[in-house]
Amino acid sequence: MDIIETRELAVGYGDVRVLDELDLAIPAGRISVVLGVSGSGKSTLLKTLAGLMPPLGGEVRFAGAPVDYYSEASLRTLYGKVGVLYQGGALLNSLTLAENVALPVRMQFPEMPLGVVEDMVHSALAQVGLASSAGKHPAELSGGMKKRGALARALILDPEVVFCDEPSSGLDPITSASLDDLLLSVKETFGMTLVVVTHELRSIERVADRVFVLNDGRLHFCGESADLVASEDGFIKTFFLRKDGHDDT
Ligand SMILES: Nc1ncnc2c1ncn2[C@@H]1O[C@H](COP(=O)(O)OP(=O)(O)O)[C@@H](O)[C@H]1O
Ligand SMILES: [Mg+2]
Repeated sequence: MDIIETRELAVGYGDVRVLDELDLAIPAGRISVVLGVSGSGKSTLLKTLAGLMPPLGGEVRFAGAPVDYYSEASLRTLYGKVGVLYQGGALLNSLTLAENVALPVRMQFPEMPLGVVEDMVHSALAQVGLASSAGKHPAELSGGMKKRGALARALILDPEVVFCDEPSSGLDPITSASLDDLLLSVKETFGMTLVVVTHELRSIERVADRVFVLNDGRLHFCGESADLVASEDGFIKTFFLRKDGHDDT
């Protein structure tokens, strides 16, 4: 089953279509990876799928139902089903880890009793192995811990789909591999659907069930990670050669 489907989706800003004619199928309970050079529209696509910006054309269906980007009720329903780990992680420095993780609950359910919020924060932090760091500020956390914290924040409302925009950028290979393990365990333990932007071939081979390559404003390739690695496509080969060891931000 595909939890998200798009038909002739166009995303961008104002009159500028960054991506057009996208027919995507995101399989439920699997990890999809989105690949593309810097500026190809990966973050724009994720923001549109997460309901944070309206498409310029076409349609997004979530669990079979069309998303109405101009209906508050439709967006609220969508926000209850998706979590987002933003590019850069972006924990607020002035708040503790626990306060950061609580933010989606405080914003969407301001009336939720404090004790319930605390329980939710504790279980989200436990999911990412940070239960004992709840009272720390981001400055006291390592790079990998910050990403885990941002993931806990994306998971706290128990979403059906988690969007992760370059979760491992800026991490060393070992920390990055342990983040991959965590993404796999989130998928396997909770049956969650993940949509991950990453450039690291090692990570793609390890976690991706399906890979989408964006290029020149269109979907350039869609397949399994093994198909990607075996691809004879010139752009894909160049992309990987060029990207090898290159930190895209
Ligand atoms: N807020 C914005 N307003 C106008 N153009 C934007 C905005 N954000 C990004 N863009 C442009 O949209 C294109 C895609 O950006 P983005 O989705 O961030 O790419 P990626 O995440 O693949 O690096 C780029 O050309 C970028 O300059
Ligand atoms: Mg981006």
